[in-house]
Amino acid sequence: MNTYETILKRRSIRKFKDTKIKDEDILKLLEAAMAAPSARNMQPWEFYVITNNSIMNEIRSFVSYFNYNSSLMIVVCGNTSRSITKNDNDFWIQDCSSAVENILLTATSLNLGTVWCGLYPVIERSNKIKQLLKCPSDVIPMALIHVGYPAEEKEERTQYNENYVHYIK
Ligand SMILES: Cc1cc2nc3c(=O)[nH]c(=O)nc-3n(C[C@H](O)[C@H](O)[C@H](O)COP(=O)(O)O)c2cc1C
Repeated sequence: MNTYETILKRRSIRKFKDTKIKDEDILKLLEAAMAAPSARNMQPWEFYVITNNSIMNEIRSFVSYFNYNSSLMIVVCGNTSRSITKNDNDFWIQDCSSAVENILLTATSLNLGTVWCGLYPVIERSNKIKQLLKCPSDVIPMALIHVGYPAEEKEERTQYNENYVHYIK
């Protein structure tokens, strides 16, 4: 599968098999995450890798659209103490988003399914996860990624729409 094919194959998967993910594959996901570009290469991210059932059940109970039966959750957080400057502080969101997408695409290439669930900027959701995971004060949970072997199939696709493209010639 080349990169373009992987990008089209990646879809949000919300039903998973009850199969554990290999440690070597978890490591690949994290290596891919930390290969992402970041502003001034500050790498303002932290990754919480969760397989503890009671913690996962608590996260599932927070919001109905987080309630998926994945065998692994990765919470991607921004560490604002490593963000570039006070004025440009919000670049951590773009940095962490590029790390999230690298995880999703690498998972797809390993035949794993994922869904990106948004935390930040919904402060209530982000803070609930922050409390549960006991994150330090500078650390802001941005995204929750469910990871598991897919128990549903989705078609590969782009959503190309020429109305969203503006050529300046
Ligand atoms: C920032 C962000 C937040 C999202 N939050 C949720 C969520 O809370 N729950 C969920 O089931 N899907 C969530 N999604 C997945 C989107 O619903 C999904 O990407 C979109 O419907 C397109 O479908 P596809 O991923 O299969 O291409 C989120 C996606 C993004 C990028």
